[in-house]
Amino acid sequence: MGEKLVVENLIKVFGDDPVRAIEMLNQGRGKDDILRETGMTVGVSGVDFTVGEGEIFVVMGLSGSGKSTLVRMINRLIEPSSGSITIDGESITQAGSEELRRLRLEKIAMVFQHFALFPHRTVRANVEFGLKVQGVAPGERRERALRMLEQVGLDAWADQPPGALSGGMQQRVGLARGLAVDPEVLLMDEPFSALDPLIRADMQAELADLQKKMRKTIIFITHDLNEALTLGDRIAIMEDGRFVQVGTAAEIVSNPANDYVAAFTQDIDRGRVFTARDVMQPVEALELSDATPQGALERMEALGRDALYVRDGGRIAGVVRYRDLAAAARTNGADLARHLVGDYPSVPQDTHLHRMYGSASGGLPVAVEDADGALVGVAEPDAILAQLAARTEAQRNTEREA
Ligand SMILES: Nc1ncnc2c1ncn2[C@@H]1O[C@H](COP(=O)(O)OP(=O)(O)O)[C@@H](O)[C@H]1O
Ligand SMILES: [Mg+2]
Repeated sequence: MGEKLVVENLIKVFGDDPVRAIEMLNQGRGKDDILRETGMTVGVSGVDFTVGEGEIFVVMGLSGSGKSTLVRMINRLIEPSSGSITIDGESITQAGSEELRRLRLEKIAMVFQHFALFPHRTVRANVEFGLKVQGVAPGERRERALRMLEQVGLDAWADQPPGALSGGMQQRVGLARGLAVDPEVLLMDEPFSALDPLIRADMQAELADLQKKMRKTIIFITHDLNEALTLGDRIAIMEDGRFVQVGTAAEIVSNPANDYVAAFTQDIDRGRVFTARDVMQPVEALELSDATPQGALERMEALGRDALYVRDGGRIAGVVRYRDLAAAARTNGADLARHLVGDYPSVPQDTHLHRMYGSASGGLPVAVEDADGALVGVAEPDAILAQLAARTEAQRNTEREA
């Protein structure tokens, strides 16, 4: 994944002497301290990150943590106090007004929480707006807008005014307008926060779907961790103008950096965060040609497992269970193949745990496969349950305090 956007030591101070405030920050003084002493507000206080091409990078944090200030600095709707931002190696922070205009037209689009649609123009004209500003000819404009409306399922509404649409539909128009200009980077500042929960879930699914086709580089702001977990390839948690943790959903939930992060992770649905890959163990398969029931039993005891996969050359022949082999060993079980369960459960390695209940319900270890169908691990039903139920140390502390 190529680096699309690189942000280094980005700072925003609201007030009349940012240089003084930055000095204080460099001395390790905090946001509250600086406000008390100087009356200046630190919006963002030294943030570094890189967003890869085609990645959805989510920034989440409580209200006032600096999310909007950060995202508005990326297209310089807010002027940074210091630091640097580059897109494809080209400086945004150094750009003159002409360059900036071009960057905003061609490379960076923004979708706001309170989508400002023009009420007296049609839905299509609203979607065409950015293209018109770009100087795209009317025919092509019309066609691209309609295509985008089709993508979000609103082509039938093209000639209506926005007022004829529900809130969720209007937000889809906002999304279509942002995407119609085909930006390289899409900035989305809490685009779904004003929607009611069901429509919101729809929009999240819609965006995830569109993203599969379009592979945009997206910076998505939210204050909702479940939304962050659903959409983000990586998530940055922001507190008082800083990033306190950056990582995948699984990394953040399994190891929250501090109590602030832990508080967010308390109510999340672990089954939607962790995948088969997070709970799988090494395969430890037996070879059909040389394994005996007695050998298999010993191996299971040594490994503490009650079933093992059996390979036949390159392919998986099935699973053998301890209880079947133990029963057979008392009689005459010389042949391992007789005890093979060929109908074993398997899932791709990126399957979320909440989709594995069925696979795990038979009690057999679930075969975890890579994109080519090769066995890369096994997920024991117990390990799946343990991961779903786990509380981290930080979560327990937060609960104790609450
Ligand atoms: N124009 C402004 N003037 C002064 N302070 C501001 C301004 N905009 C934002 N702030 C302050 O900067 C901090 C971050 O705000 P903001 O980026 O809007 O947070 P968020 O989007 O996470 O809610 C807050 O303390 C806020 O009060
Ligand atoms: Mg905000």
